[in-house]
Amino acid sequence: MIELAESVTGRPRIIAVANQKGGVGKTTTTINLATALAACDKRVLIIDLDPQGNASTGLGIARTARERDTYAVLCEGLPITKAVQATAIPRLSIVPASVDLSGAEIELVEQGRREFKLADVLCDARGMDYILIDCPPSLGLLTLNALVAADAVLVPLQCEFYALEGLSHLMKTIERIKRSLNPRLEIQGVVLTMYDKRNNLSNMVAADVRGHLGAKVYDTVIPRNVRVSEAPSHGTPVLVYDLKCVGSQAYLRLAGEVMRRERLAA
Ligand SMILES: Nc1ncnc2c1ncn2[C@@H]1O[C@H](COP(=O)(O)OP(=O)(O)OP(=O)(O)O)[C@@H](O)[C@H]1O
Ligand SMILES: [Mg+2]
Repeated sequence: MIELAESVTGRPRIIAVANQKGGVGKTTTTINLATALAACDKRVLIIDLDPQGNASTGLGIARTARERDTYAVLCEGLPITKAVQATAIPRLSIVPASVDLSGAEIELVEQGRREFKLADVLCDARGMDYILIDCPPSLGLLTLNALVAADAVLVPLQCEFYALEGLSHLMKTIERIKRSLNPRLEIQGVVLTMYDKRNNLSNMVAADVRGHLGAKVYDTVIPRNVRVSEAPSHGTPVLVYDLKCVGSQAYLRLAGEVMRRERLAA
């Protein structure tokens, strides 16, 4: 077996889950990919970088338990080690988000190294194999911080008519950040989400995306699955809610592909 990237470099691999389009499956992918990686014996930390706090809610972190949040870490100098919370999933922890984070976009503008805040903070996050960052649906300063801190970006793309709209803007942004602020940044891959095999449009979109992006697209496709959408209201990943459902099985396969790509990137 080839050693994993993180054990070679001694630092966690940081993956930003990003797409400025709303509702494409960023949070669902972050939670369930993280859980699948943890199930494969990896130590995983989720950074909830979205003021909506959906990743925190989906992992059962009560709103009242989010005082030590990403906002405090980025804007108030709270050491990240003090903000990391365990979850019910072994080896999976999270730095939660609260609505306070919505002020960060404005407050960070005033600060020096504003694009590097998260990158600087994550230097102190030790003892992890993977850090997954759940980005908000915009290309503002928070997402910029995620892309500057990350080794790789994973892009969820919903199988719908407008799937490719906005993608070229995201790709150009990634290229720009790679040239100017973070030469390490690579595209880990693009994952098709909410795929419905009975729907011709889903099939056409999937073929179209593969035609445009080729090998960047993971073989694994995440199907539209009601169990996946039910799980967050129970504060638990779908892998725990219903391990056997097609959604859980797809996220386990995706984790396998992500780990293989990480090995090749090492
Ligand atoms: N594979 C799936 N099958 C069924 N429903 C899904 C699936 N993936 C995501 N959903 C549902 O679609 C909605 C949007 O998903 P999610 O919150 O993960 O997207 P997002 O990109 O994080 O959204 P936002 O841009 O608001 O942060 C949620 O209600 C989620 O439960
Ligand atoms: Mg989200």
